[in-house]
Amino acid sequence: MTTSLTRRRILQGAGILTLVAAGGAVWRAHDRGVFAEPSGAPYDPWEMWNEPEYAGTPIALVAAGILASNPHNTQPWIFRVSDTEIEVLADTSRHLGSFDPYLREMHIGLGCAVENMVLAAPANGFAVEVEAAPGALTAIARGGLVRAATLRLSRADTGTDPLYETIPLRHTNRYAYDRSRGFPEELLRGFAAMPAAENVVISLFTEGEEYEALGKAIIDATEEIVADHEMIEDSHAWFRDGPDEMARERSGLALDTAGLSPALLAAAKFLPALPAEQSHAAWAGQTRDSHVPTAALLGLISVRDRYDRPQALATGRLWQRLHLSASAAGIAMHPLNQPVETIDRERQLDKEAKSEARLAKIVKNPEWEPTFCFRGGYPTRDTPKSARRGVDAVTEET
Ligand SMILES: Cc1cc2nc3c(=O)[nH]c(=O)nc-3n(C[C@H](O)[C@H](O)[C@H](O)COP(=O)(O)O)c2cc1C
Repeated sequence: MTTSLTRRRILQGAGILTLVAAGGAVWRAHDRGVFAEPSGAPYDPWEMWNEPEYAGTPIALVAAGILASNPHNTQPWIFRVSDTEIEVLADTSRHLGSFDPYLREMHIGLGCAVENMVLAAPANGFAVEVEAAPGALTAIARGGLVRAATLRLSRADTGTDPLYETIPLRHTNRYAYDRSRGFPEELLRGFAAMPAAENVVISLFTEGEEYEALGKAIIDATEEIVADHEMIEDSHAWFRDGPDEMARERSGLALDTAGLSPALLAAAKFLPALPAEQSHAAWAGQTRDSHVPTAALLGLISVRDRYDRPQALATGRLWQRLHLSASAAGIAMHPLNQPVETIDRERQLDKEAKSEARLAKIVKNPEWEPTFCFRGGYPTRDTPKSARRGVDAVTEET
């Protein structure tokens, strides 16, 4: 009698503990959005980009600009808006440190925003002229706001570019692609013919020696980055640990967009965040085992001088157009810019320019300097939206 009573008590106690543990797990799963698609205010800008209250005003251009591709989702921008002009300012405080020591990627991202704004101009009754701030990236003072471009607006009734409608459909897709389907010929021709500034060119590889060499360069550069403690710490600073942090920051990288399988994503979201070494080692594994081998297309954008500010901006404008055209055709795209990030890093540390030599062998023309690498292909999964700071947070009206 006594024994069975004791046993019953123990079992009851264990049951309560299990319930408490399960309750805690459910609570944590809820708290960390384990089974939820990213949602809430940080994602609203994707619905609000063509709000009726913005229509026909320069703010509509900003609402399109903030949805652009940008490095590590740092959103390094402030828009100073009047009725006739928008100044696009680099917010140099939102930098990636040793991951982007010359703010080259920051300026490419600003170029992406400019392209979205240029596409949004006619839809809102504006003609637009873009003036890029001149000079070298290496001469930029750090810490504050630095003008990157001015958009001059005048009233005009011109046709809308079909890519305008694609602005909210473009997302970086970090899943495996279906390489067996190749890359659509028409889109490839469209990429090759894409209008760009005269000092910007694109190289596209779907197979062969250069394709293999570029794939290897991407994998090797990723491993070099993972071995560079400072680079991965600077990168890690922009990883967001769960929905609460994302709700506060509305920028940076979330696990949801990392290209993980549903089971791995749920586990990664549930568990405590990995330290920089482990999360970046996992990224190197994805690059080696998934990103590169499943790429139907590997591409490079090159310029005459990668540390020239207008050329960095022009690169971003071209990348944004490429990515939007791919999105319109249902094709996934993904920057894999590690081999240029290591070029910057070797230059910063005054090391032998091995990364430069690695890409020079692919471009085969010393007059062109690669500044942006990417992959494309048929998607195997849709990719979720990334967070954005809203228009109000990034606009100064004058
Ligand atoms: C200059 C530049 C470099 C980038 N490099 C990488 C990269 O190496 N790997 C990657 O996964 N995404 C890269 N991205 C994509 C950004 O992380 C992405 O645009 C950002 O997180 C916002 O997400 P979204 O493109 O889905 O809107 C890069 C974007 C830009 C503009």
